[in-house]
Amino acid sequence: MIIGVKRDEEVIVPTLTFIAPVNTIKYLGAEPIFMDADEFCNIDANKTVEFIESETEFKNNNSYNKKTGKVIRAILPVHVFGNAVDLERLQNVCAERNIAIVEDASESLGTLYSKGKLKGKHTGLIGHMGCISFNGNKILTSGGGGMIISNDQESSEKAAYLTKQAKDDPVNFIHNEIGYNLRLSNIHAALGLAQMENIKRALKIKKKINNFYKENLKLTDGLTLMNSPGYAENNNWLSVLRVEEKLYGESSASLISKLRNESIEVRPIWKLNHLQKPYLNNQTYKIDKAKELVSNSVCLPSSISLTTEQLEKIIKVING
Ligand SMILES: Cc1ncc(COP(=O)(O)O)c(C=O)c1O
Repeated sequence: MIIGVKRDEEVIVPTLTFIAPVNTIKYLGAEPIFMDADEFCNIDANKTVEFIESETEFKNNNSYNKKTGKVIRAILPVHVFGNAVDLERLQNVCAERNIAIVEDASESLGTLYSKGKLKGKHTGLIGHMGCISFNGNKILTSGGGGMIISNDQESSEKAAYLTKQAKDDPVNFIHNEIGYNLRLSNIHAALGLAQMENIKRALKIKKKINNFYKENLKLTDGLTLMNSPGYAENNNWLSVLRVEEKLYGESSASLISKLRNESIEVRPIWKLNHLQKPYLNNQTYKIDKAKELVSNSVCLPSSISLTTEQLEKIIKVING
């Protein structure tokens, strides 16, 4: 809305993500175009660039989808499981083609680029706007709600205006646009601020959990932990196991059942969004890696409240 996505325009989005960012595109009357994932569960930057260069036409300062004739207004990369998207690869082509970047950094609070042009930058502050969720399962929670962040003053002011019912005059109640009541309540904000003081501790515990898995699981070619890209430090929000059935001798689904039978809360990655009922007719681009990731990944318990006994039990069940 703030960057001007309009009805009947299009937005490129990864198929492998929680459905929330995809739904925001539909709320605006626009349509998602689903992109494949890379090996880190993020939108495949190379395929995205290939799609923009070969499947769109640039005219009148807009990128038109050759297939639908519609304007592609934005791309919505999601930093999945705390892994930073290869935004450096996307930045130039998006700037040249007037495609805005809106980052979903809900799962990547604390993730930092460590190499290349983006070195020292946090996810969420590279594109035009970023979104962070403070939902209960996130590194920092306010019990609900989230935050929009941006380095662009105009966009920040527009966000503040629209989320407060677009009130142009607070005395005479003049509203020149349709606004929304999307503020975090004071109580939720207070909870979030208190948690903010704890963020370094939370990130440390997340790292410890990931290291515990790395050091104690009997990892082989058939059983590995999901890697992070070399250009960024992951916040370790969620540890993910990769199971190669042929080498491991058991499928990820069977391992999930075994763990759940022991009351250990594990789950597969989300069902891909291009396969969800509301999105069956949307355009997709060369989706294959995302399917493989869904079929062989197991999301491991990663909450900072996990005890050593609980972690040891998980290791014992997996190691057998
Ligand atoms: C990537 C991603 N985007 C968006 C959301 C939704 O955030 P919220 O529940 O705060 O609306 C979540 C999870 O909750 C998420 O994991």
